[in-house]
Amino acid sequence: METMCGIAGYVGPRSAVQVVYDQLKRLEYRGYDSAGIAFLESGAIKVFKRAGKLGELGKLLGEFPDDTHMAIAHSRWATHGAPTDVNAHPHFDQFEQVAIIHNGIIENYLELKEELVHNGHTFQSETDTEVAAHIIGEEYARGVPLEEAVRRAARRLRGAYALVVVSRTERNKIVCARNASPLVIGLGEEENLLASDIPALLPYTRQVLVLEDDRIAILTPDEVVVTDLHGIEQPYVPMQVDWDIAAAEKSGYDHFMLKEIHEQPEVIRQCLAGRLDDANNVRLDNVFSEHVWGEIDRVNFIACGTSYHAGLMGKYLFETLLRIPADVFYSSEFRYGDPVLSPKSLAIFISQSGETADSLAALRLCKQRRIRTLGIVNVIGSSIARECDRVIITQAGPEISVASTKAYTAQVISLVLLALHVAQVQEMPGVRVEEVVSQLKRLPGLAEKALELEPQVQELAKKAAEAKLFFFLGRGVDAYVALEGALKLKEIAYVATQESPAGEMKHGPLALVEPGVFALFGATDAALRDKLVSNMKEIQARGGLAVSVTTEEDQITDKAADFTLKLPRVNQNYLCALLSIIPLQLLAYHLASLKGLEIDQPRNLAKSVTVE
Ligand code: G6P
Repeated sequence: METMCGIAGYVGPRSAVQVVYDQLKRLEYRGYDSAGIAFLESGAIKVFKRAGKLGELGKLLGEFPDDTHMAIAHSRWATHGAPTDVNAHPHFDQFEQVAIIHNGIIENYLELKEELVHNGHTFQSETDTEVAAHIIGEEYARGVPLEEAVRRAARRLRGAYALVVVSRTERNKIVCARNASPLVIGLGEEENLLASDIPALLPYTRQVLVLEDDRIAILTPDEVVVTDLHGIEQPYVPMQVDWDIAAAEKSGYDHFMLKEIHEQPEVIRQCLAGRLDDANNVRLDNVFSEHVWGEIDRVNFIACGTSYHAGLMGKYLFETLLRIPADVFYSSEFRYGDPVLSPKSLAIFISQSGETADSLAALRLCKQRRIRTLGIVNVIGSSIARECDRVIITQAGPEISVASTKAYTAQVISLVLLALHVAQVQEMPGVRVEEVVSQLKRLPGLAEKALELEPQVQELAKKAAEAKLFFFLGRGVDAYVALEGALKLKEIAYVATQESPAGEMKHGPLALVEPGVFALFGATDAALRDKLVSNMKEIQARGGLAVSVTTEEDQITDKAADFTLKLPRVNQNYLCALLSIIPLQLLAYHLASLKGLEIDQPRNLAKSVTVE
């Protein structure tokens, strides 16, 4: 189960191993923790895989034959299963007749595996990829061409995948299949290539075909044939890509931050993948067993920066849904604060990188005190992921921009899944798990709608370009998102912000309001809108402008505000609030962009703070 991997494949007159290795290098920005390659030599498929940096595989390059004309390669950014040699791709089928690489999650692999084991298959790894390899191998052993074996297998696989397959006997053919995971094909002169992303094709060709879902492509040196899952040929028109390589890494976006903001619908999908079943239950592996949850009397969320803001959402969820008392601590304060910790408490560490020094120190303090620990971490194999008793990987993929966007969304979704999981194992009838799950399933589509607000946000950014001070306000769960919105603006647009619960305005911050200030109000919580209107009036009466970030049916703040951004409605207020971070991220981005700032690497800040 891999969601953000590098895929490469080449067939043609050049040295195939050199080409696919070069392709992997061009995908390095996607992150990786192990890599592998497959090619043909002396009538057999040779597979080499190494955990660690790409250079580990590179060390073997001198030993590989130069005259191989077909190869596939993969760099793994693990989200399930440790980054080891065995779990790295490619994987063989039972008879070593085919080798495959894979990006995505095959959701029904356990049932397929059971069937295969019943038929006498044995497996080397725990991966779903190896199951797909065996299915394809079994079909291939029936004597059908490779593409037909892949089609038959693809019809049985459920989930998201990009699969790339070679066989021992069809020396000049690579077959690939795609369903909802990225896969692009490069059409060259007497050579053809494939990759998970366009930058890995550009040194070789600019004729690119983005394979559609439920399509199989057959690459030989002379042609690329595309069919559907039943073998019917599908015509296609390649596109000419004019981007330079740096722009291509950003998929054509000007900055990684903008790309990552736009990835959020997909990130939500990935974070949910494999964790919800058809009956709308939550399946979280590897968290504590049932009786442990019954014992826990308090939850402490511990984190820094954006991850701390996700922790606030965690507190809200644990208290309102589960009625378990919760606190949120900055890691740096927690470790020096001599915290009072109940032996029955649970410490939840939230971290994108898994390496933040203060969070790691706080974790070690909890371990010394024998407190149970759970990590919510994006980078598998990172220190926090390894040292926590249990861990949930957020599956957001590598985040490159210093200002965190998609990782926050994935952290909050992971917290929602965790709260639902606890409600389920504790049989809490008050939490309507199935109903929330059905809303979670809608969320990727709703996040896409939220992104459609971008032109309006750009308008707002133009109006606000000269503002010296921004207020970020809200009540309830909106107040937590307001903090994250303010942090984004500070981090990348270098503008002063004043953030607080809206009710606190009168106790000080109101003194800062003067003509020209902008106040952004999170108003997604329908029950609290009337109160927000009075806060808006307080701002406007002193010459400030009020912006409401709300949901589509709102007719209350809508009338009071000078500018309104309307999000789609979802039943749970915390999910509405989560969506409202999208326009706030976009606002920070567009204000910084209007000012011509660096954006991906803001001054004085680092992506991962590994010093105290
Ligand atoms: C730095 C980053 C932030 C991040 C914080 C915590 O300040 O710039 O984006 O939120 O560290 O990092 P973590 O990796 O622990 O989530």
